[in-house]
Amino acid sequence: MKVGIIGAGRVGAVLGAALARSGHALVAAVAVSAASKARAAALLPEARLLPADHVAAAADLLILAVPDDALGGLVAGLADLGAIRPGQIVAHTSGAHGLAVLAPVAAAGAFPLALHPAMTFTGTAADLDRLAAGISFGVTAPDELRPFAARLVSDLGGVVEWVEEQKRPLYHAALAHGANHLATLVAEAMDRLRDAGVHQPERVLAPLLGAALDNTLRMGDAAITGPVSRGDAGTVRKHLQALDAVAPGSVPPYLALARRTADRVIAAGRLRPQDAAPLLDVLSASEKEPVT
Ligand SMILES: NC(=O)c1ccc[n+]([C@@H]2O[C@H](COP(=O)([O-])OP(=O)(O)OC[C@H]3O[C@@H](n4cnc5c(N)ncnc54)[C@H](OP(=O)(O)O)[C@@H]3O)[C@@H](O)[C@H]2O)c1
Repeated sequence: MKVGIIGAGRVGAVLGAALARSGHALVAAVAVSAASKARAAALLPEARLLPADHVAAAADLLILAVPDDALGGLVAGLADLGAIRPGQIVAHTSGAHGLAVLAPVAAAGAFPLALHPAMTFTGTAADLDRLAAGISFGVTAPDELRPFAARLVSDLGGVVEWVEEQKRPLYHAALAHGANHLATLVAEAMDRLRDAGVHQPERVLAPLLGAALDNTLRMGDAAITGPVSRGDAGTVRKHLQALDAVAPGSVPPYLALARRTADRVIAAGRLRPQDAAPLLDVLSASEKEPVT
């Protein structure tokens, strides 16, 4: 297919390069900033750099890889300019948006496709290897476009997860909660270890967190360990006091996650409610007033 990319950003440049690698003809791309031009030169050398409406006109498959908030305006602009033709496929790469944002191009006769690569991109060739290893794509597509979408994802070396239109925000919330908040949690843990005088926090954490992630992906709640899972109220109280002394901002997220952890281990039958009572009292007391 003739592929056009609007937005040679981190995702657009890499998906374009991956499609070219799998035999599609990458005909044109939009790159305005110096960073996007550099990415296009490195990853999309065969593509002509053109204005958005010219890229749209040149492509059978048009990929819109722009910031989420820019997508609606871009789609409306392309439709208003008459840059979209019937039968063309217009895909975006946003996780939060589904097909609704593509309504103006669908009204012009194009097939809409929401194609979200569930990966974090750097916009460099290193991403191509991660793609080739086989990531999942959260895909929302009209029924008649599903076979095409499945083939496209397969060309990218990936696996399809069909996501219903109305479930798209929930799908994206789950990914952000897992990946983005995990990064915040790890950065916080490294900071608190530094506060504790640890010189190489990343070295201390790497095997511990690697095992926790691996075990949880395989075993779910059964992988949860630590004082909350054992109902060790005294240890959790000491944690809260230590955190409050050096980093009070870490107390509310610790409390929220400890409470959620307790709920999950109790629901999973790992901790009996009567054994959890002292721990839950510590958490409730700390939620109501500062730790002492
Ligand atoms: N980054 C990730 O890890 C990741 C993963 C999965 C999905 N996504 C999704 O993929 C999409 C693109 O993300 P990204 O990380 O690739 O963004 P990015 O690196 O910031 O690149 C955005 C691209 O969009 C262009 N652009 C910005 N505003 C525009 C507008 N109003 N009209 C037309 N083009 C515009 C930029 O062009 P210039 O630089 O030339 O100005 C740039 O090439 C988003 O929907 C995002 O949610 C991102």
